[in-house]
Amino acid sequence: MTTRTRTRTTTALALHVEGLRVARGTRTVLHDVSLDVPAGEVTALLGPNGAGKSSLVLALGGVLRPTGGRVLLGERELTGRRPEQVRAAGVAVVPEGRRLLPGLTVRDNLHTAVYALPHAARRAGVDHALELFPELRERWRTPARSLSGGQQQMVVLAQALASRPSVLVVDELSLGLAPVVVKRLMPVLADVAASGTAVLLIEQFAHVALALATTAHILEGGRIRFSGTAQELKDHPDKLSTAYLLRANADPEDSPS
Ligand SMILES: Nc1ncnc2c1ncn2[C@@H]1O[C@H](COP(=O)(O)OP(=O)(O)OP(=O)(O)O)[C@@H](O)[C@H]1O
Ligand SMILES: [Mg+2]
Repeated sequence: MTTRTRTRTTTALALHVEGLRVARGTRTVLHDVSLDVPAGEVTALLGPNGAGKSSLVLALGGVLRPTGGRVLLGERELTGRRPEQVRAAGVAVVPEGRRLLPGLTVRDNLHTAVYALPHAARRAGVDHALELFPELRERWRTPARSLSGGQQQMVVLAQALASRPSVLVVDELSLGLAPVVVKRLMPVLADVAASGTAVLLIEQFAHVALALATTAHILEGGRIRFSGTAQELKDHPDKLSTAYLLRANADPEDSPS
């Protein structure tokens, strides 16, 4: 593996998901989902519309309570914990379509994210976020509503990373963003993983996620249909199901901006 020893405050902890079952309303949307998100790498979770990817993200973040199975951070049981407990344990979740507070400046949006941290960690967290996204310094006093989509997504990621999480879960980061913006954001996730964080990347565009990931899982109909190396999927794209390929092979360069 390519785990580098740039770890600072991040503790190398893996996320383990075992036999997870999640229902929405009366319908079970995740059945017996098991996967590991190892420290120091990017793990990709792929799958078509409605597969249950966002439901998994919400369950990992403590928003949906699983009806079966377990979520562990290292040895620590996170199953059924509330979102603030999950966050405090070191799991940062960026749900699909996460929005900023539009009337607040970049500075205030970031400060909101570090509010619950111990005093000394707040400043360090904001400094860390600005190291990752120096562009935000120029936008420091700008209200979030005046930022471009890419800049807003930078602030969203900066909010998640300011707490120096052990695990980062990102749902559909590239959705609606121009390819040039995606190219700017993705290396940050690679660096975050290289510094020891366990990164779970949920992506609509398989090739974007597979470019960064070591391991990949395909979720379809609420079940894991494939778990293997990202290289295996790059070498054998047929392993993505036909239904999924329609979406996965759509190149973001071709999509309307
Ligand atoms: N709020 C909700 N209430 C009830 N069912 C829901 C809700 N949100 C999603 N579902 C259902 O749960 C299933 C899984 O949806 P989910 O959003 O997790 O899929 P997804 O893989 O994230 O899809 P997408 O690629 O469109 O984001 C789908 O059948 C969906 O219709
Ligand atoms: Mg989704």
